[in-house]
Amino acid sequence: MEIKQIKEVTDELVSAMATLVPLLAEKAKTPSFSDLQQITTADGTFFFVAEENGVILGTLTLVTYRIPTGKKAWIEDVVVEKNARGKGIGNLLLEHAMQFAAEQGIPKIDLTSNPTRVAANELYKKIGFQLRDTNVYRYEP
Ligand SMILES: CC(C)(COP(=O)(O)OP(=O)(O)OC[C@H]1O[C@@H](n2cnc3c(N)ncnc32)[C@H](O)[C@@H]1OP(=O)(O)O)[C@@H](O)C(=O)NCCC(=O)NCCS
Repeated sequence: MEIKQIKEVTDELVSAMATLVPLLAEKAKTPSFSDLQQITTADGTFFFVAEENGVILGTLTLVTYRIPTGKKAWIEDVVVEKNARGKGIGNLLLEHAMQFAAEQGIPKIDLTSNPTRVAANELYKKIGFQLRDTNVYRYEP
């Protein structure tokens, strides 16, 4: 199993994402080749996949940015293919992104997860993320 940063989009990636994205959000639009190209070429966005024998089994996106109070990062869209769960892939993706962010001099990483996502919440806590006492807001007109 290896974690790779995707810099070039392939048809295999588009097809893997068509399987993975609905596992995150049933109604989410499957990303097209050009959607994925926008992600891989966006400044500060790092798109990782977990791959075994050429087969993509999971993904995670790390979004980094600079604000007046310093450098920060978000981890988004962490997902592992159903049949490959429970083997440490989610853990590996997170460790890789955390190490990558540390190498970029980013002192903290944020993420959110719905409490109904039991596996994800357990994974984040186990790897060292702490539940924050803050309010998360969304504007969705
Ligand atoms: C969350 C997810 C990425 C975990 O991937 P995974 O490869 O199965 O996770 P790992 O095998 O690396 O598990 C690491 C740890 O996570 C926790 N965990 C994983 N699956 C779990 C489950 N079903 N129930 C409770 N805890 C679980 C455990 O603490 C586990 O450590 P352990 O094996 O030593 O007990 C995967 O379940 C998934 O894709 N879920 C659907 C999408 C999703 O909810 N994404 C998160 C969006 S915020």
